Amino acid sequence: MEHCLPSLAGRNHPRIWDAGVAMGQEPYTVSILFAERMGHFAFNNLRIDATDVESTGQFAHVIETAVYPQDELSRLPQGIFEKYFEPNGQTGRFQVVERIRRRVAFQWHDLLSFKEIGHGYALVLCKNVLLHFAPRERIEVLKMFHRALAPGGYFATEQTQEMPSEIAPMFERVIPDGQLFRKVACAI
Ligand SMILES: C[S@@+](CC[C@H](N)C(=O)[O-])C[C@H]1O[C@@H](n2cnc3c(N)ncnc32)[C@H](O)[C@@H]1O
Repeated sequence: MEHCLPSLAGRNHPRIWDAGVAMGQEPYTVSILFAERMGHFAFNNLRIDATDVESTGQFAHVIETAVYPQDELSRLPQGIFEKYFEPNGQTGRFQVVERIRRRVAFQWHDLLSFKEIGHGYALVLCKNVLLHFAPRERIEVLKMFHRALAPGGYFATEQTQEMPSEIAPMFERVIPDGQLFRKVACAI
């Protein structure tokens, strides 16, 4: 994130799509990273669309309430924990503060629909999800992310994920040893 954060945090209304978010720790981490970088008013223009295919509503509920057990938060630097989490009345559980919560919106979405949830995203984040898909599905999902990204937008995925050679020209690698890419404008 540190490689794209300065450029993203400088945008007027940065929009982020975090795809396959499970219980939401990732989008809240991203929201906190931006809060640390952006001025108060600019931060209020950040929007993180958090999506997952989970259909029982459990993930949506956890993300909307943003209450997490303290032991899941133990690796956070003390200063970050104190600044962005508050007791919510339940023993051993803490809630993400409202300012951070308001930037994250959950919606149900199946990546295998190959239909993007919107366009103009400055960053698409999809970690530990693509490995569950067949090679052909992975290519179609990556094409969908390419359509969803704004020109020059970033795509970040997990370390173990390789960019399939068929679509390699659609993304340029930002750092040699990491899975951060930038959208290249090209006909798909
Ligand atoms: C291992 S978790 C990754 C959570 C988070 N991105 C992280 O790295 O900690 C994988 C997530 O992908 C979601 N997922 C699996 N198939 C999906 C699909 N077709 N569309 C959207 N989400 C999917 C699962 O529901 C699960 O929440």
